[in-house]
Amino acid sequence: MAFPVQRPRRMRRTEPLRRLVRETSLAPEQFVLPLFVRAGTNVRRPIEAMPGVAQTSVDEMLRDAERAANAGVGGVLLFGIPEHKDASGTESWSDDGPVQRAVRALKQQVPDLVVITDVCLCEYTDHGHCGVLVNGDVDNDATLELLAREAVSHARAGADIVAPSDMMDGRVAAIRRALDDAQCAETPILSYAAKFASVFYGPFREAAESTPRSGDRRGYQMDPSNAREALREVKLDLDEGADAVMVKPAGPYLDVIARVRRTTLVPLAAYQVSGEFAMIKAAAERGWLDGERAMMESLTAIRRAGADIIISYFAIDAAPRLR
Ligand code: PBG
Repeated sequence: MAFPVQRPRRMRRTEPLRRLVRETSLAPEQFVLPLFVRAGTNVRRPIEAMPGVAQTSVDEMLRDAERAANAGVGGVLLFGIPEHKDASGTESWSDDGPVQRAVRALKQQVPDLVVITDVCLCEYTDHGHCGVLVNGDVDNDATLELLAREAVSHARAGADIVAPSDMMDGRVAAIRRALDDAQCAETPILSYAAKFASVFYGPFREAAESTPRSGDRRGYQMDPSNAREALREVKLDLDEGADAVMVKPAGPYLDVIARVRRTTLVPLAAYQVSGEFAMIKAAAERGWLDGERAMMESLTAIRRAGADIIISYFAIDAAPRLR
């Protein structure tokens, strides 16, 4: 029996009714705010294509982190910009690197925030690729040991979670083994399991100073056309010991988020990346979109698709609206 008996509009009539039957809700503690840390003090360098986002020194980063914690944001994801880059990204595992120092400061000053560290070499290598080059190619197996060193260094500094984003095969296993050998068996791994070779990382590469000097990342990041392969990547990372997995980017890959949600039991994160953020900001600046509503709708869509954790540059603006 359809219309006129069935009238879905009846339950949409008033805001209290809509609230009663709402299927998806957002909570501030599910948000993770990415932060870009560099050396120095009092440094705040705005990132051109990401209004409101900046590279900061540790002291300034702490202010942003405190603001996030006060808004109820669940965690932060740290990226480091080193002082010196070289062929194998040695500063990534330096005890004195920007991420390591940021982790120690955060654990002291803002202990309630979950501190997640991005484990990758692209910000630290002079060629800008996520691994070491052998004959011009990113060498998978030679990279694993370096990523493991970086992850152990983050864990020793006090990171709550390490998050490898390099897309090398076998890196979860290599990192798990190294963490266990270094008495960091309690440190969980959130793997960027389904990370696509996306144009939407553009603004981030300015933020992290990590644009590859030559070539691109399509030899290790996933082809945007492949969803079934994403499920395989997730399965492999879980077999290797990942404690949680991520799909990235988020908005253009909601179908992948939904499929991963249906086929796995572990917590699922989705990363609303720099380009997704920049598009909404740019349209809002021109008055072409209501920026606040676009922000909330895009975040709700990611949650509706099935993400438990949402990594977003909007975290700090969205969280206060949800309390
Ligand atoms: C690589 C990394 C990237 C992002 C997070 N980790 C960029 C890339 O693979 O080029 C993108 C995040 C964003 O665009 O917001 N370490």
